[in-house]
Amino acid sequence: MPTAIAHANIALIKYWGKASAALNIPEAGSLSLTLEALSTRTTASPIDGLSDRLTLDGQAVSGRPLSRVSAFLDLIRAEVGSKQALHIQSDNHFPTAAGLASSASGFAALALAGTEALGLRLSPQALSALARRGSGSAARSIFGGFVRMHAGPVDAEAESYAEPIEDAKIPLHAVIAVAKSGPKTIGSTDGMEATRLTSPYHGAWISQVGRDLTAAEAALRGGDFEALAELAEGSCLAMHANAMAARPGIVYFQGVTLWAIETVRALRAAGTPVFFTVDAGPHVVAMTSPEAVPQVEAALLGHEGIDGVIRSGPGLGARLVPGQ
Ligand code: DP6
Repeated sequence: MPTAIAHANIALIKYWGKASAALNIPEAGSLSLTLEALSTRTTASPIDGLSDRLTLDGQAVSGRPLSRVSAFLDLIRAEVGSKQALHIQSDNHFPTAAGLASSASGFAALALAGTEALGLRLSPQALSALARRGSGSAARSIFGGFVRMHAGPVDAEAESYAEPIEDAKIPLHAVIAVAKSGPKTIGSTDGMEATRLTSPYHGAWISQVGRDLTAAEAALRGGDFEALAELAEGSCLAMHANAMAARPGIVYFQGVTLWAIETVRALRAAGTPVFFTVDAGPHVVAMTSPEAVPQVEAALLGHEGIDGVIRSGPGLGARLVPGQ
């Protein structure tokens, strides 16, 4: 039975807006680091009958998660002309159950295990474009380390894939400050669509992403930490400003999020190489040099609204587990 492992990733230049919701093509590119500490392990086993089955963290699951997985597997079945149903067993290895996103690692692992189970061999690029159909950020989790996602034109959807940035010269680790879970306001899929449709800032956001990507790649290749820090914080804040400007406004930040942002900025002002980013939730992710991880961790634990921290170095790309 093919088993695949894939890791989550954190975007430094954010994806927030689709050119095509049906094909899940992003309006702009993005740039991320794959994270070793957050992973999903997925096995795809052929079963009798016409319906797929899904087991998540040991629990049988139906409803929307199962139909999303089945619709994704239909893309592979259509490609190979198969009606083979699969039992998908997926386990998340995330150090806390803080509602951290698992769709990136989940769909990257599913793309690899699912194509293997149904006999479809794809190039890493084509696998990335396939994973994108499950979740945009999953396209990046096919690869390890720093990864660049391409938007691709709507009429050539195979061109919207990710690829690794091989010659990055900034060693970065992540310290995730896990906020005590508040209710999640709105998921990223719905949040970015509402933003695209109603935020007066959305056009400006999309045109800024292209400039930020070029500059961030140059900073990574040139080893310019300070430039990358400014670009990543700028992209994060612009994404959230855009979401906040939707009607009605979408606010992912909580009080503790602003506290952690201030804490990271104070550390950097005092000479520690660290910057922040925040996805569609309240958790602040501090990106820092491997040496400064203990100092950053200690600072971020200084608020009662922080449940704990998760440390992570760069992770590998999606891979099959040999001999399964
Ligand atoms: C804020 O990849 O979850 O994390 O394509 O609809 O599944 P869908 O969206 P998703 O969006 C990620 C949004 C983000 C920024 C990012 O990872 O680039």
